[in-house]
Amino acid sequence: MSEAPKTDHAYDGIEEYDNPLPGWWKWLFIASIVFCPFYWVYYHNGAKGRSIQDQYGVALAENTRLQFAEIGDLKLDGPTIARFMAKDSWVKVGESVFRANCVSCHGREGEGKVGPNLTDEAFKNITVLADIGKVINNGAGNGAMPKWSNRLHINEIVLVSAYVAKLRGQNVEGGRPEEGNKIAPWPEPVVEEESDEEGDAKS
Ligand code: HEC
Repeated sequence: MSEAPKTDHAYDGIEEYDNPLPGWWKWLFIASIVFCPFYWVYYHNGAKGRSIQDQYGVALAENTRLQFAEIGDLKLDGPTIARFMAKDSWVKVGESVFRANCVSCHGREGEGKVGPNLTDEAFKNITVLADIGKVINNGAGNGAMPKWSNRLHINEIVLVSAYVAKLRGQNVEGGRPEEGNKIAPWPEPVVEEESDEEGDAKS
């Protein structure tokens, strides 16, 4: 080290040796600069499905499909919605459907924006539990509430219905005022004997 030449630079009498960077280090540095545009183009600018986010999305969808295979195609009726209201891990899947598709009109917590408040006790198109599924499937208000039958899987509609049914009565603050009529309470939740034939959503 002490044989190394010194730089001309000195400050307060402190001098520096002129040690060059090792060759391998410089080449690694240059190689990584040469490599990076290719990496960037391939993973971030190239075909769909290559980025980490895309791969994550694909894996997530795959997982949901596996879970749906577990429960089969559900029926969109009151008893089925009631049954899934009691299964928290499936209600969470319904919640994610809501977050992805419904918050723009119904608000993050269902408090209402363009669409009515779903957290109060009054409804325009709903008198019994099954009506939630019908409205989501077929739409309402001449399309002001879009129909989802061609955009969501039938199970997603059942599960988001269960989530929406559970929003009722939460009366989120600052929500839209009540619209429509007050309706009778939902039927008592069906607590199944742990048959487990349908399993619970695994996360
Ligand atoms: C483009 C805006 C919009 C989107 C997106 C939307 N809704 Fe609606 N929704 C409305 C409007 C507007 C109404 C009221 C229709 C009417 O006046 O009869 C409504 C009504 C409803 C009702 C019946 C409420 C009642 O009082 O009768 C339910 C339940 C509902 N929406 C659930 C959902 C769910 C679940 C989603 C997501 C899958 C969703 N909505 C997405 C606008 C929307």
